[in-house]
Amino acid sequence: MTLLKIARLGHPVLLARARPVGDPTAPEIRKLAADMIETMRDAGGIGLAAPQVHESVRLVVALPIGNREESRTVEPLVLVDPELEPLAGGTEEAFEGCLSIPGLRGLVPRARRVGFRALDLAGRILEGEAEGLFARILQHELDHLDGVLFPMRMTNLRSLAFESELRHLLGDGEARPTAPSGAGVER
Ligand code: NI
Repeated sequence: MTLLKIARLGHPVLLARARPVGDPTAPEIRKLAADMIETMRDAGGIGLAAPQVHESVRLVVALPIGNREESRTVEPLVLVDPELEPLAGGTEEAFEGCLSIPGLRGLVPRARRVGFRALDLAGRILEGEAEGLFARILQHELDHLDGVLFPMRMTNLRSLAFESELRHLLGDGEARPTAPSGAGVER
């Protein structure tokens, strides 16, 4: 496996609409997925989309987790040509980050619950429901496939902040490595 270079904000690949994978069993797709998982793990991330590693195809890897503590033990899902639909349950705001926008966090409203449908690497249909952090990760990663980055989803840019300054927005005056539960997509 190979560690891949992560595209950063400003690279046009992050703004492009990615093309469908087509055949999820193709060896190059299997290798890309394995390399993306290794790259995500190495960067301390909890999700990664192929355009972030300069491959403009509709492939994401994501950890199906309810909180960050689970990220060490849970195996990532590989989603090929994924689709989402919001489910009843309304929206909630939480801080997100992105491996392509290192150091920054912002409050992003997302659907609390989503249904997802994709293919796995064997070409089987993979479908289910997600809520909370996992639903947020899926919405963030699928946005990458359409050239959408989390600041474009923010409704109040005053909450955009460097992670090291986040304590000021959280209002407790104490340094914290991350925001409260639900925070921090990708890292
Ligand atoms: Ni991202």
